[in-house]
Amino acid sequence: MKYDTIITGGTLVTVAGRMKGDLAIRGEKIAAIGKDLADGQTNGARIVDATGRYVLPAGLDVHVHLELPFCGTVSSDDYDSGTRAAARGGVTTVIDFAIPYGQDTLAQAVENWDAKARGKACVDYAFHCAITNWQRQAKELPKLIDMGIPTFKQFMIYESEGWQSDDAAMFQALERLKELGGMLMVHAESSRVLDLLIQRHHNKAEMNKHGAYLHAITRPNYIEAEAIQRAIQWTEVTGGTLFVVHMSTGEGADLVKNARERGVNVFAETCAQYLTLDDSLFATKDGHLYATCPQIKKKADQQRLWKGLRDGEVCGISTDTCSFTRKQKAMWKGDWTKIPMGMPGIETLLPVVYTEGVLKRRLTLEQFVQKVSTAPARMMGLYPRKGSLDVGTDADVTIIHPKKRIKVDWRKMETNTDWSPYQDWNLAGFAEATFCRGKQIVDNYKFTGTNGHGRFIKRSKPGTL
Ligand code: URP
Ligand code: ZN
Ligand code: ZN
Repeated sequence: MKYDTIITGGTLVTVAGRMKGDLAIRGEKIAAIGKDLADGQTNGARIVDATGRYVLPAGLDVHVHLELPFCGTVSSDDYDSGTRAAARGGVTTVIDFAIPYGQDTLAQAVENWDAKARGKACVDYAFHCAITNWQRQAKELPKLIDMGIPTFKQFMIYESEGWQSDDAAMFQALERLKELGGMLMVHAESSRVLDLLIQRHHNKAEMNKHGAYLHAITRPNYIEAEAIQRAIQWTEVTGGTLFVVHMSTGEGADLVKNARERGVNVFAETCAQYLTLDDSLFATKDGHLYATCPQIKKKADQQRLWKGLRDGEVCGISTDTCSFTRKQKAMWKGDWTKIPMGMPGIETLLPVVYTEGVLKRRLTLEQFVQKVSTAPARMMGLYPRKGSLDVGTDADVTIIHPKKRIKVDWRKMETNTDWSPYQDWNLAGFAEATFCRGKQIVDNYKFTGTNGHGRFIKRSKPGTL
């Protein structure tokens, strides 16, 4: 049998278990899995020796914001640096959010985002679409679903950005997406009480006293919990499907668990930062760099979210990558409400979750594959094309060394920032090799891909695990 590449001698890991063996690639697809596929006669195939390595379905980061106009600036990773970073982190599919600005239609928002990605992306990409004005945009949902975009986000905050949806819009989106087979994603934070808390603390004395820690003070856990509870309520009565994005609190995990036990179709992702960083960072010298929305919480939340991953109420891990440089973050000038919110993460997603999850025995290796690859692919309507090692599916493969650690240093990363939330952490699980649809785009930990290799991937049937 003629193959282009044979990855030999590694331990192939999927959600179903591990197997020592070979994986052969022909063109863009996985052509065979088995023992001794090279068997002495390579027939011209390139051999990649993966002895002593794990061979995984490549990661998906289903929550990123590349080149996003936000908080008075534009996020610093675009489809060049952002997807090079993805490749180096072992991620071959990213899903970004196309957001309409001004009077844009949803289709225009998608076209705007596709223009940022076309010819530039080094890994595959897809889009969720944000609904920012239900009355105007509702009629477009069938067309978007036809275009391969079956997932829509509504924001329960961000009034000043012009993005906020009210309960009636959420309720109707859940109803309509149920009819159409789509899925509603929500950014769940309780806007009116959040605004009140911000207003109470927004004065010189408080800012001098607490600095960036006011970000944590004004977003206690109930801000997220109340909003998740409300979104679950609307999901329960409409019978729709809800995906809680970037869930950061233990209370959120409890609510999702209880609702799922009642049969509500609610799912939740968390992000690597909520599993590994806590709000004591806001009190440090560079604390403002860590401002994201929602913000990082407490150690107890981390523990609950890891448990949620094991028990199932947290179905996957993404990053909410929304990078800003130190210069951009400096726009805050001591006022925490002016910090561009977001942080880099794509490049470190797999290494952080592997090191903090698998090596610290919080997740098995199979659970790791499930949470960063298979479950996100299933939830977003990309499985088995992505997130599997099945014959006939896209040859999206990541090879990692079980133990080799690399010290994180923003200077050596593809991500376009001059800091990293994980600076100096010693992480295992960086991609020694990454293949995206059969093409090797990382070799010996270095990016070797090309702009334009990444393609828009149409999706269908989201919302099942
Ligand atoms: O702070 C963040 N995460 N910014 C991106 C926008 C969002 O809410 O996902
Ligand atoms: Zn959000
Ligand atoms: Zn986001």
